[in-house]
Amino acid sequence: MTEPALREPGATEPVRVLFDAKAATWAAKYAPGGALTGRRARLAAAVSALAGPGGRVLDLGCGSGDLARHLAEAGLRVTGCDISARMLEQAERADPAGTWVTLDPAWRELPFAAGAFGAVIASSVLEYVADPVAVLRECARVLAPGGTVLCTVPDTRHPVRWLEWLAARCATPLGPALGSRPGLALTARAGSSGRAGRLRGYVDYLQLSRQRHGARWWAAAAGRAGLLPAVVPGATGARGPLLLCGFRKPTHGSGIAAAPGRRV
Ligand SMILES: C[S@@+](CC[C@H](N)C(=O)[O-])C[C@H]1O[C@@H](n2cnc3c(N)ncnc32)[C@H](O)[C@@H]1O
Repeated sequence: MTEPALREPGATEPVRVLFDAKAATWAAKYAPGGALTGRRARLAAAVSALAGPGGRVLDLGCGSGDLARHLAEAGLRVTGCDISARMLEQAERADPAGTWVTLDPAWRELPFAAGAFGAVIASSVLEYVADPVAVLRECARVLAPGGTVLCTVPDTRHPVRWLEWLAARCATPLGPALGSRPGLALTARAGSSGRAGRLRGYVDYLQLSRQRHGARWWAAAAGRAGLLPAVVPGATGARGPLLLCGFRKPTHGSGIAAAPGRRV
């Protein structure tokens, strides 16, 4: 079997493999007291305020669909899409009536009509993509004029990201000693259970979570995709490991460089 080359700049297949392997346990992060439960509440409030009652929302990279389901329960019309079929299986199991769309890992165009959504949320997705400007441009295309894209990305100012930066540099030479070959999501071969599996999953994550940039970089990327700065309702400025950015599609004409985001 040919294994995907991680260091190839456009490699997307290893990302799918990584998240397929994480799918069975992802929803547990949203259980009461889970690591992501608070994040879901904050993002849901922001998306609901931006999309308006009954608004159409695209959850790009929806994972196991927890945020999408939360938004649907709040009355929004939500479409979840992802490159990981295993993640979407979890989403469908939890909400068989939901709209779940599988994307080709190498997608360049989203399978949705221009202007179809009032808001797009990409929660911890853009760090894994090969070309963030191209993805943001597609988000802009599927947004209705005046619609907003919300994204969370790693906040490079947070100490946990400094440690990840260091760990990523150690993981590259350590990988072969752990049985890793660059480019192969190890979890695909050996499963992700147990301490060794978790360590391999972490090494994969460090290598695949490759878009680590500051707020100004993301603002410039959004500007290149034709998006404008947007105020994110309820963003508190609290210090956290994620940066929440909001960008708006202009009602006419093209965008200009967008404003930096806030921490969540
Ligand atoms: C860290 S998980 C976040 C899942 C969910 N958004 C959440 O916040 O719980 C990243 C998700 O993005 C998906 N993903 C990565 N690259 C993608 C891409 N280019 N297009 C769509 N989904 C992608 C992965 O399969 C995975 O489910």
